[in-house]
Amino acid sequence: MRVLLFTGKGGVGKTTASAATATFAAGVGRKTLVVSTDPAHSLADAFAVPLGSEPTEVDTGLYGMQVDAQLRFEQTWREVQSYLLTVLARAGVDTMQAEELTVLPGAEEVLALLEVRNQVASGRWDVVIVDCAPTAETLRLLALPEALGWYVERLFPMQRRVVRSVRPVLSRVAGLPAPPERLFEAVERLHRMLTEVRTVLTDPATASVRLVLTPEAVVVAEARRTLTSLSLYGYRVDGVLANRVFPAGGSDPWRAGWVAAQSAQLAQVRADFAPLPVHIAPYRAAEPVGVAALGAFAAEAYGETDPLGLAAATDLVEVTRTESGFELAIALPLADRAAVDLSCTGDELVLTVGAHRRVLTLPSALRRCDVTGARLRAGRLHVAFAPNPELWMR
Ligand SMILES: Nc1ncnc2c1ncn2[C@@H]1O[C@H](COP(=O)(O)OP(=O)(O)O)[C@@H](O)[C@H]1O
Ligand SMILES: [Mg+2]
Repeated sequence: MRVLLFTGKGGVGKTTASAATATFAAGVGRKTLVVSTDPAHSLADAFAVPLGSEPTEVDTGLYGMQVDAQLRFEQTWREVQSYLLTVLARAGVDTMQAEELTVLPGAEEVLALLEVRNQVASGRWDVVIVDCAPTAETLRLLALPEALGWYVERLFPMQRRVVRSVRPVLSRVAGLPAPPERLFEAVERLHRMLTEVRTVLTDPATASVRLVLTPEAVVVAEARRTLTSLSLYGYRVDGVLANRVFPAGGSDPWRAGWVAAQSAQLAQVRADFAPLPVHIAPYRAAEPVGVAALGAFAAEAYGETDPLGLAAATDLVEVTRTESGFELAIALPLADRAAVDLSCTGDELVLTVGAHRRVLTLPSALRRCDVTGARLRAGRLHVAFAPNPELWMR
């Protein structure tokens, strides 16, 4: 079993790369499903066959599907969303968590991810490839189980108790809208399912993310930030696919200019993203549409390397003993020192990188410690902890 996600900026070739890699996988005899979580469904266009919300066979052993949000789910989700926001605003939940929850993604993307988990769990597939929405949306989506988790674990049990005992009083006194019981259940169920989604997508033995980019400064800059954020959320990136690379040759100065500019960008990409492999997909004379063209795209991009290969796992978060206590190290490749922020609140470590935030629940030994320092070195953030005698003796 192998789960492979493709993400990147809009229009760089995520759908093409997903469809091409799936075509390769099916070609070597692995039963493969490619799912699009991008509401802008273009997977059907890439294969030039109609696709529905059930797996449709495109070629031997190659299936595609595009998930469409069902009306019913959309309504529930909208209700959940607006309830969470109202509660947060009125309950005076500090802005950090409010921010986290205001970025709830749309119903379509959530439903698509749930479908990915169902398909993986079905045992029907050797390979499941996910054609993700553009970067920002994907990241919101991947952070969702944690954001919801915070809510479910903290606010919900407390509120639910209150609601059960003093429901009529609550709305008047606290100014909180008392939520219907079924809403609690909906959020809890969603949280459970999304936690499973996250488990499937971050499984070190089977899952990885591939970043698609084109060799242009703006696109590369975004890909760098994405690499950091994906690591922050615990997703493993196992390669970069540089698409639409102009082949060298000819005497046209316009083309020579592009070739030179792109090769400078590519040199930078190789240096920045090392040791990740950088696969190169040339700019083709026509859109790679249909199984034959997609197969050729994959063959050229991956060459001798195995498109389904998974580099040896490295621990994204690691705790070690030190002379003065403990050290927690977390992989944050390419992180900008100035954008990294850290705070410790009792049993949680809140790590912020730019607009992205992760709440790490600390192992019990570290809860009885103080953070004594942090530094960013070689793509990892090292946080030093020293035992706090008062907490330790309890
Ligand atoms: N290497 C390539 N050469 C030529 N056209 C390409 C190449 N890669 C992608 N395209 C075309 O570029 C457009 C955008 O690609 P697509 O895979 O849909 O991007 P995304 O999914 O990232 O938005 C499509 O029309 C696709 O056929
Ligand atoms: Mg696409």
